[in-house]
This record gives sequence, structure tokens and C-alpha cells, in this order.
Amino acid sequence: MRIILSIILIGAAIGAVAFGILGLQGGLMRKPPFELFPDMDRQAKLRPQEPFKFMPNGLSSQLSPAGTIARSEPIQTASGPVYRFEDSPVNTGHITGTTNFVAANPIVVDMALLQHGRDRYDIYCAPCHGKLGDGNGITKKIGVMAAVANLHDKRIVEMTDGEIFNTITHGKGVMGAVGPLIPVEDRWAVVAYLRALQLSWLGTTNDLTAAQSAALK
Ligand code: HEC
Repeated sequence: MRIILSIILIGAAIGAVAFGILGLQGGLMRKPPFELFPDMDRQAKLRPQEPFKFMPNGLSSQLSPAGTIARSEPIQTASGPVYRFEDSPVNTGHITGTTNFVAANPIVVDMALLQHGRDRYDIYCAPCHGKLGDGNGITKKIGVMAAVANLHDKRIVEMTDGEIFNTITHGKGVMGAVGPLIPVEDRWAVVAYLRALQLSWLGTTNDLTAAQSAALK
């Protein structure tokens, strides 16, 4: 009997304390409400367009850094500008409306694109595929990637540009997607450079000019 009585008393006491702290939901009070977690009510955060002395211009909202790519800025392709959200070969690697890959790079391939592609390739692909593309990158040497594709394999040399773009974008087999790391134009630059790399292995003395082969002899 005494136990039941004390349980009822303790329950009533807890209820009274809870009611005292929380009050009736939505009820009006004269005193400011009790804040159980003041740091949630008053967070150390900046609201947009608020004064903020820390920044040189005194504002909480800053302009985008120089070089930020606007979503609405089109990609310059060989057949004109294309927006990033368009269902176009430059964005997908596919011939629009089909599952076929495009044969050739939709971006104008010039020396600047190749140089840029080399730069990106050496950063994003060489760790696995090696600077030469033969699959002997550092990841194989230290044993974290066993079978890395040799990009000079006949099968890969014969692949369309679109399929290689697709492999970079979405990955293949044990190779993860590199797409999220590299913007569309850079992926096509890598494809262009990879073609140059493959060509450099396929060259024969027949490709030399008469003067060059004479110099060889
Ligand atoms: C983390 C390591 C790694 C990185 C980084 C990487 N690859 Fe790969 N890649 C692989 C492996 C491993 C394979 C073999 C995948 C398989 O057959 O399962 C492969 C396969 C490929 C293939 C052949 C796909 C096929 O159809 O068989 C191509 C082309 C390729 N990579 C291109 C690239 C390019 C271009 C880059 C840089 C943008 C890149 N890879 C970055 C590991 C990597």
C-alpha cells in the first residue's frame, strides 16, 4: 500500500515539475518561456544579408568566388554552345535519343585542350593507369589495385570517345566513377589526351617525314 502511494506521489511530483518547466503547449504566459536547450533556440549562425564584422565588406552573404561556374553557362562544343542540363552528347556521351555512344569528341580538340587533358589525366587517372596509360600506376605498385586496365589494349583503343567518356563518368567494374570529381569539359579533355597517348604507342616509322627517317638512319 505504501509503495503504491509513494509511486503516485513521485509520479505527481514529476508531472508537476514537467508542467512547471514546459507549461501548456501554446498557452500564454507572462514570463519568457524556459529554454531547455538555449543553443538550439539561439544558434551561432549567420542569417543572410546580416551585418558581419568579420568579413571585409561587413556582410554575412558573400559573392561567389572568382571562377565559379554558373549553372547557366553553356559548354562550347564543335556544334555550338550547349547548356549543362541539356540531353546532348557532350553531357551524356550518347547520341541523343539512343543508347549508342558518340564516335568522336564533341569538343573542338586543339593543343590547349590536349595540354589541359594531360594535366587532368596525370591527376585523376595516372595514380591507377600510370602516366603512360599502361595500367602500372602507383596503386598497383603499392598493391591496393590488382588489375588496372591497360589503356593501350586493342579493345580500349577501338572504343568510341563516347564510351570512354561514359567510363570516366560512371566508372566500370572495380573502377569507381570519376565523373563527380571532374567537370564535363575536363572529362572530354582527358578523352582527347588519352587518344594522343594511345596514338603515341601506335606510331611506326612510316609516320615520319622523309627528313625525319633520313635522320634516323
Ligand atoms: C582508383 C583507380 C582508377 C582510377 C583513378 C581510374 N581508373 Fe580507369 N580503371 C581502373 C580499373 C581497376 C579498371 C578495370 C576495371 C574492370 O575491368 O573491372 C579501369 C578501367 C578503365 C577503362 C576500361 C573500361 C572497360 O570498358 O574495360 C578505361 C577506358 C579507363 N579505366 C579510363 C580511365 C580514365 C580516363 C581515368 C581518369 C579520368 C581513370 N580510368 C581513372 C582503375 C582506375
